[in-house]
Amino acid sequence: MNELAGKHIVLGLTGGVACYKAAELCRLLIKEGATVQVVMTEAAEQFITPVTLQALSGRTVYGSQWDAREPNNMPHINLSREADAIVIAPCSADFIARLVQGRADELLSLLCLARPIERVPLLLAPAMNREMWAHPATQRNLAQVAQDGAVVLGVGSGDQACGETGDGRMLEAEEITEELIAFFAPKHLAGHKVLVTAGPTFEAMDPVRGITNHSSGKMGFHIARAAREAGAEVTLVAGPVHLPTPRGVRRVDVQSARQMLAAVEQQAATATVFVATAAVADWRPAQASEQKIKKDGSGLAPTLAFTENPDILASVAQSDRARSGALYCVGFAAESHDLLAHATAKRARKGVPLLVGNIGPAAFGQDDNALLLVDAGGHRELPHASKRLLARQLVQEIAARLPSLPPRA
Ligand code: C5P
Repeated sequence: MNELAGKHIVLGLTGGVACYKAAELCRLLIKEGATVQVVMTEAAEQFITPVTLQALSGRTVYGSQWDAREPNNMPHINLSREADAIVIAPCSADFIARLVQGRADELLSLLCLARPIERVPLLLAPAMNREMWAHPATQRNLAQVAQDGAVVLGVGSGDQACGETGDGRMLEAEEITEELIAFFAPKHLAGHKVLVTAGPTFEAMDPVRGITNHSSGKMGFHIARAAREAGAEVTLVAGPVHLPTPRGVRRVDVQSARQMLAAVEQQAATATVFVATAAVADWRPAQASEQKIKKDGSGLAPTLAFTENPDILASVAQSDRARSGALYCVGFAAESHDLLAHATAKRARKGVPLLVGNIGPAAFGQDDNALLLVDAGGHRELPHASKRLLARQLVQEIAARLPSLPPRA
């Protein structure tokens, strides 16, 4: 989606097997519209050649502070001033220690030290053996670089090149790209705790069957991602869907409406925003059979009785926190026609300040949608666009409607 359009990234590689992932990272950053200048340490060049990174970035790689291409002989100044961000991936334990000490005897650490600290952020994607990661020296150094203004992106866990298993793997290229996009997003929801429901619910008839619907969960997952990018602490209560969890979002998986209600009630006690996008089943089988319901040979279908499910949104909207204004509730309405009339009526019926309408059959499972926002002041359309973009716009619209938070102690 060109989410990094106009951004110039200095991508620094230090020594580590994860250098192979940096090639993919370079490609993804370019795909998102960024321009990328690669700088490699001597150790990085043991793992991957500058030729590969040059081909992927379309720019000659820098490796030495004595590079004769710079007319003023100051690549550390020129490179760092052009950058919107410096990303070190992989960032070795040694390089972190060098940053802590403010070392400047090779180009990459030199340009990190020379960067205008207020204007050019430094993001680190560490990569190392699990023992090196866990070592008190590394942890001490990480705390120090963070205190000195670097953004430490964390590490993955799993099999390591050395044959061991544990923490210290570099994040995947997609994860680092997602972190960088989030980093640049405006922090409209800083300090907020956002709770989102998404996907369908599954109401069991017996151990192998149940009733559910075609909600894909995409809109809710995009909203959770956009809220996190906007600086909120986000919990996503998800019904059965096949979607990856957005980075930095806490996910609680549930099946039935009653499980969803229980998870939501627990989180709603501290949330400041609740966005209900889940397509909750209206009814559940009154009695779920403990054993599979079998054909009995009579040719007659079993008769099922249904019970109404709790309305999660309406019940949260009635809570003291919501009524006092401490918890801002947003509902969704999937309609097939007369969107404005139905959305307006649903807003009143659910007792929520903001109701977001969409045409259900056109939205279910799709990657794009159009939204109609209805609140006390009237209505506003967010025209047809990707769910990703609409989620960002909606998050901004929600943020603009929130009472400002008390200053943090
Ligand atoms: O009543 P209807 O299902 O059309 O309402 C849709 C809105 O209410 C959505 O925001 C949905 O997530 C929420 N809802 C709910 N619990 C239900 C039914 C709907 O939270 N049982």
